[in-house]
Amino acid sequence: MKKIVIAIDGFSSCGKSTMAKGLAKKLGYIYIDSGAMYRAVTLFALQNGFFDGDKIKTDELKSKINDINISFKLNENGQPETFLNCENVEKKIRTMEVSSHVSPIAALPFVREILVIQQRKMGDKKGIVMDGRDIGTTVFPNAELKIYVTASAEIRAQRRYDELKVKGENNSFDEILKNVVERDHIDMTREVSPLRKADDAIELDNSNLTIDEQLEYLVKLVESKIA
Ligand code: CDP
Repeated sequence: MKKIVIAIDGFSSCGKSTMAKGLAKKLGYIYIDSGAMYRAVTLFALQNGFFDGDKIKTDELKSKINDINISFKLNENGQPETFLNCENVEKKIRTMEVSSHVSPIAALPFVREILVIQQRKMGDKKGIVMDGRDIGTTVFPNAELKIYVTASAEIRAQRRYDELKVKGENNSFDEILKNVVERDHIDMTREVSPLRKADDAIELDNSNLTIDEQLEYLVKLVESKIA
């Protein structure tokens, strides 16, 4: 069967990764979480002392950018996990500390340039679902199917709160909501590849959709594209 490229973009914590993962599994496609790559660079910057408070030591990060090797491997449950220079960092990149530093890192042009090259390589054989902020606009402008996901900031913060709680991280709802709103702002107003709906993307507000309803809707869209 013909394979296509599926780009899923949208605001933080709107369930893009659950959606993209579920769809990739159903179709037998590769799933790539591009946000995990920006998170891994952020973790690298934190671990190497490239933050002075909230300020990034840009020149130092730039000089080490080629030392950063990010890859994905499937765990025993078939779930992709993120590796930074051979270390499994899947848990470490999901903490609030990384969440609160990632958007300024993702706004740096030299970081985007290098990650976009890697992301395009991952999709050169098609059969891929990638989620992020600029997948339909910059990484794969010719993707056959583009989805732009939205949901209210409160619903997104609640989802992230529940997700972190299950993982044993107890953050306040207000702190998470603040982070979600701040990241949206930085992601939409940065100069390079800001978050925006591609002209040919289909907008999906999933505030009131269950995961199954969402998946069913997406599978129908894929079928119509392939036919
Ligand atoms: O899962 P969540 O919505 O929290 O975000 P993520 O997908 O893990 O992405 C983390 C951050 O990386 C975002 O807030 C963006 O600043 C940045 N990002 C980006 O700039 N471009 C992408 N393609 C993916 C993520």
